[in-house]
Amino acid sequence: MSHQVRAVVALGKGAPVSLETIVVPDPGPGEALVKVEACGVCHTDLHYREGGIGDDFPFLLGHEAAGVVESVGEGVTEVVPGDFVILNWRAVCGQCRACLRGRPWYCFATHNATQKMTLTDGTELSPALGIGAFAEKTLVAAGQCTKVDPTVAPQVAGLLGCGVMAGIGAAINTGNVGRGDTVAVIGCGGVGAAAIAGSHLAGAAKVIAVDIDPRKLDTAEKLGATHTVNSRQTDPVEAIRELTGGFGADVVIEAVGRPETYKQAFYARDLAGTVVLVGVPTPEMKLELPLLDVFGRGGSLKSSWYGDCLPSRDFPMLIDLYLQGRLNLDAFVTETIALDEVEKAFERMHHGDVLRSVVVL
Ligand code: APR
Ligand code: ZN
Ligand code: ZN
Repeated sequence: MSHQVRAVVALGKGAPVSLETIVVPDPGPGEALVKVEACGVCHTDLHYREGGIGDDFPFLLGHEAAGVVESVGEGVTEVVPGDFVILNWRAVCGQCRACLRGRPWYCFATHNATQKMTLTDGTELSPALGIGAFAEKTLVAAGQCTKVDPTVAPQVAGLLGCGVMAGIGAAINTGNVGRGDTVAVIGCGGVGAAAIAGSHLAGAAKVIAVDIDPRKLDTAEKLGATHTVNSRQTDPVEAIRELTGGFGADVVIEAVGRPETYKQAFYARDLAGTVVLVGVPTPEMKLELPLLDVFGRGGSLKSSWYGDCLPSRDFPMLIDLYLQGRLNLDAFVTETIALDEVEKAFERMHHGDVLRSVVVL
């Protein structure tokens, strides 16, 4: 059997997305069919639409989602129908060299559903990040479903599926921010704001937010930033040093993805400090740094992929902390929208008007 549902599809490069009827197969072995309840709009969806992530059109967009498992295929033990789940785009394999060494958050062989979702004429869809959740139902690998406390609203839970998890994880997993650390975050969009919330949650003594947009600095303060720097007006490296006794921050998180902001992060950290790159650069970007500074300043330069998260470990824990009132996830949901408003949400995202627009189904 299969299901016909409405979904947001990018049919061709650069063209506005459209609402299409798609065909979703019943789950086969290892797969789960999920009734999507909410899905956030992420930059990556826009990159797909613009042809920046390959040519495999049509793309079924959406990947920051939460919903309820409707049915599961043969051999699935992770989830059962009725479970409230957050979808992740890194279902770990348990068998690759990273998994076998006990580091599954680095899994090098993550997987997705085997069967294809299609348009009604049979054209196969490429689901964004192996999810495709701007749809009333989607088909994923069962390991892409992480069960969490169902009392949380789906538009909040879904945030952890991508950008917000990337930011929180950049702080608490990759940056290893702990009690008493000084942290600076450069770029306070959805990802950077989450890095601020994560640093606050981890007990950082100072959290310095840097952005060129004063609206983002206001939100950063609500999420736990102790200081803000408008880097259009003030040199951020000097400002961060001044705020940290002249030394620099223990951890600097770059959440823009540009060489000039990476350099700021590099020079704004204390000796033996850590730089975490969570912003995603484009292929043509190059970085030039005196190698002697890389050596002489010590410490570590890291990049953070999906916040180095392990969904089964991190999603339920963060939802529990949210429900205890210790992690403000509500602040990330700027607006909830309908399935046919994704194109409009891209526009608002492009203008920096939102942290997240979330489609509620
Ligand atoms: N200095 C400081 N902040 C900057 C600069 C700059 N030179 N240029 C842009 N910014 C700020 C923007 O004002 C915005 O607040 O960086 C923020 C980027 O945020 P968003 O556009 O909302 O992007 P976000 O979803 O947070 O993702 C950030 O991580 O996942 C990647 O592809 C994503 O590279 C992007 C980055
Ligand atoms: Zn693996
Ligand atoms: Zn995303």
